[in-house]
Parts: sequence; C-alpha cells; structure tokens
Amino acid sequence: PRALANPLRPAILAAARSPRVKSAITRAPGTRSIVTRFIAGETRSDALVAARTLLDSGRMVSIDHLGEDTTDLTQARAAVAEYRSLLAELARLPEARTAGETRRLEVSVKLSALGQALPSDGRAVALEHAHHLCAAAQEAGVWVTVDAEDHTTTDSTLSIVTELRADYPWLGTVLQAYLRRTEGDCRDLSGPGSRIRLCKGAYREPESVAYQSRAEVDASYLRCLTVLMDGQGYPMVASHDPVMVDAAAASAAGAGRGAGDYEHQMLYGIRDVEQARLAAGGAQVRVYVPYGGQWYGYFMRRLAERPANLTFFLRSLATR
Ligand code: FDA
Repeated sequence: PRALANPLRPAILAAARSPRVKSAITRAPGTRSIVTRFIAGETRSDALVAARTLLDSGRMVSIDHLGEDTTDLTQARAAVAEYRSLLAELARLPEARTAGETRRLEVSVKLSALGQALPSDGRAVALEHAHHLCAAAQEAGVWVTVDAEDHTTTDSTLSIVTELRADYPWLGTVLQAYLRRTEGDCRDLSGPGSRIRLCKGAYREPESVAYQSRAEVDASYLRCLTVLMDGQGYPMVASHDPVMVDAAAASAAGAGRGAGDYEHQMLYGIRDVEQARLAAGGAQVRVYVPYGGQWYGYFMRRLAERPANLTFFLRSLATR
C-alpha cells in the first residue's frame, strides 16, 4: 500500500464539513488557545502587530483576512471593505515603498471569499471585487496573491488571474502540486513577470484529479519546482518540508538564480525557528499571516496536515 501523506487527513477534512463538528470545536473552551498558535488574532490590528514583529526580524509578510465559501453578496462586499482598510494601513508602513523590487508586503485572498461561489454571477462578482482589491493594492505599494482552493475552482481562478494580470502584471497565484494538472500549469504560467506560489495542496481531492500518496505529491512538487525555477517568473516556494526547502536552493542555483530571484514561504506559527534561520542566511522568506473571526476552515486544514497537531488539540480539550 502506498503511504498516504497523512492517513487521518481525508477523515479530518470530511468531518470538518459537518456543522455539528464545527459547532463542537468552535465552542470548546480550549480551542481558542490553540487557534492562536496558527492565526495572528481576530482583528486587523492583531495582524499588523504580528506583521511588524516579522518585518523587524527580516521576514516579509502576506496577510490573509480569513474567509471562504461566501454565499452571500453582503458578506463578499464586507470582505472587500476589510481588505481595503487593511491595504490603507499597510500603505503607511515604510515597507510599502519598495517599488521595482520584491515587495515586502503582500495580501493573500481567496476568490471564494470575494463571491466566486455565489449562485448567480459568482465569477463576475469575484472578478470585479478582485479588480478593486488589486487597484487598492497597487496604490498602496503592496502585492496580491490569489490563494488556491479546491479543484472545482481551479479553472475559474486561473482564468480570473489571467484576466487581471493584463492590468496588474504583478498579481500572484497559487498552484498545488498534488493536482495532476499542475506540472502543465507551471509550464503555462512560468512566463516573464509571473509570480507563482507552489504549495503541496491542503484540500481533500479525489484520486481522479490529485495524487494521493506522499511520495507522488513530493515528486510532483520537485518537478514543478524545477519548471518554475527554469522559467522566467518569480517562484514562491511555499513549504515547511526540509526536502523542498533544500531543493529550492539547489534548483535556484542550477537555474542561475540568486537569493533575490525567488522566495521561501511558510505559515504563521509553523517552523518559526527555521523561518528565522533562512532569513538570517540571506534567503527571502515570506510568512503567511492569517487573521479574522472565520478561522475554522483554515484551522482544520492545519490540524489535518499534521497528526501531532490534532493529538495536541484533543489532549488539551480532554485535560480541561
Ligand atoms: P508537509 O506537510 O510534508 O510538512 C513538512 C513538515 O513541516 C512537517 O514534518 C512539519 O515539521 C512541518 N509542518 C507542516 N505542516 C504543519 C502544521 N500544520 N503544523 C505544524 N507543523 C507543520 N494550500 C492550498 O491548498 N492553497 C493555498 O493557497 C495555500 N497557500 C499556502 C501558503 C503558504 C505560504 C504555505 C506555506 C502553505 C500554503 N498552503 C496552501 C498549504 C500547503 O498546501 C500545505 O498543506 C502545507 O504547507 C503543508 O505542506 P508542507 O509543504 O509544508 O509539507
């Protein structure tokens, strides 16, 4: 039998969709103290405080206002308004003025938070909202990267990003190495000026579209990494896996890239010491900083990635 990336992962991601599980977890008294390990806090100012500390330690940031699967237009509009306020505050930081080179400030956004899943005109609504967000980010001196969600959204998301890049060529996107299609997408999207964040992928996907075993996902990641490094864009290597981190440096060197021609990315609260070590060694490191009240989906994906996180979580609930 092939080794799964994490045998519990599909079960955790499936259970996470149950309203009863959601209600039990969000109400459990011990949850909050563990959630704060992975998110900067519920408010914008919490995110800005976390970002300040990371920037002062030589790291770059990508701030994400948590939200996904929005099914009502009012909520999608509220998400855009929150991003606008965030961008206005980021524009005041000295790090916002780094035109021409790698921008130290970025925001990450899920198109499903901007309305992509709305029953009528979801694509058009998300496109329009993302357009407003990119315009505000351009003015603020901040980059934007569009997160990757489950595979049913990939075509729509990539087509929206392609459309927006005509006006905002710096707009980044995420590709997930567990999808069978991704090596091809890397080839198609590694042209001049493109910014691609390569991650393994965090959703529960069927075998028909995604590799299931850890070995296959890792092999795909390494192939995709080579394509991106050999391409003409700016690769963003989003992984905590030491194998991928080392491969990035080797593959960059092989392609004649310097430390400024790609970046490492890791999540807030995960392998903090390694993030600092890479940055101190001269690598560009960006930390994804999530904040907001809608942390449930994000938190459950982090638990599903690593059985130790789940065990830690359950034990802390049991000992209360
Ligand atoms: P892997 O899961 O193999 O982990 C390697 C090692 O990293 C572990 O042994 C452990 O030490 C540490 N580690 C990893 N996850 C941990 C955790 N949760 N808690 C504690 N330690 C952990 N996915 C997606 O589908 N769409 C997206 O848009 C993004 N965006 C994104 C941005 C950034 C900056 C990162 C780093 C990741 C994403 N992801 C994502 C998530 C990604 O797809 C993937 O699920 C996680 O990064 C875990 O995979 P790794 O490559 O880190 O390796």
